[in-house]
Amino acid sequence: MTKLTTRDLISMKRRGQKITMITAYDYPTALIADKTGIDVLLVGDSAAMVVLGERDTRFITLEEMLVFSKAVSRAAERALVVGDMPFMSYQVSAEEAVRNAGRFVKEGRVDAVKVEGGEEFSEIISRIVRSGIPVMGHIGVTPQRDVMSTGYRLRGRKVDDLERLLRDALSLERAGAFSIVLEFVTEEAARIITERLSVPVIGVGSGLYCDGQCLVVHDLLGIYPNPPPFSKAYANLSSVMAGAIEKFRDDVISSRFPDESRRFHMDKEELEKVQERLKGLPEV
Ligand code: KIV
Repeated sequence: MTKLTTRDLISMKRRGQKITMITAYDYPTALIADKTGIDVLLVGDSAAMVVLGERDTRFITLEEMLVFSKAVSRAAERALVVGDMPFMSYQVSAEEAVRNAGRFVKEGRVDAVKVEGGEEFSEIISRIVRSGIPVMGHIGVTPQRDVMSTGYRLRGRKVDDLERLLRDALSLERAGAFSIVLEFVTEEAARIITERLSVPVIGVGSGLYCDGQCLVVHDLLGIYPNPPPFSKAYANLSSVMAGAIEKFRDDVISSRFPDESRRFHMDKEELEKVQERLKGLPEV
């Protein structure tokens, strides 16, 4: 199977073909998603919450992100794998950002990295791109820092806000970002931004008119208790999982598990020899 490239995603935008992206953090989920034809697997820093149970995304480390990235990359034969650069892995200096993006490629085996932030990060993004690593931008709600200031609030409600978002988006495009995530932005603002960019805009909670859509896989599958308001659960895997685990528990308690097909025996003659030998041993 041929791997998608960043160029393929740009061609999809030109053809008006929607881009699909979900998050993934482990090998089996990535394997299933890749076979469905999902275009992009984002190893999101949302892993901090949905996998590690942290309060927000600030607390995941680069080392943890690299472990998840490697697992997802091993599974992805077709999908483009994007590694999310965690909080404080790119903010300190361009040198450090390039070094850490390089670790995502060399150790996490990703095809691209994602960086949160607008115009103020365009120089850093440009340096990573010039080093040969494709970068996906991320504006709108940028959870790594918004959690400490404005909180998780809808963006692009006012003209000034839209202007700011548009300036950020154009500046990231100029810096060389191959695509931009737009998180929790009004549909009207998202549409204007999408129409003015030549690189694909992937929306998460930003309405219908983006070039693609992204959901966190745990929200899509219905296994995370606190999904954002724009998300949709396409399954209720938490009840499927609870049902299976409960059944196993009942089967163990009532000795129905393991059943005969899952039990492995000694040969009859060997067993007779054991019984003979045991006769000579003192009882305990
Ligand atoms: O970490 C993440 O899951 C993300 C998506 C919401 C785009 O950044």
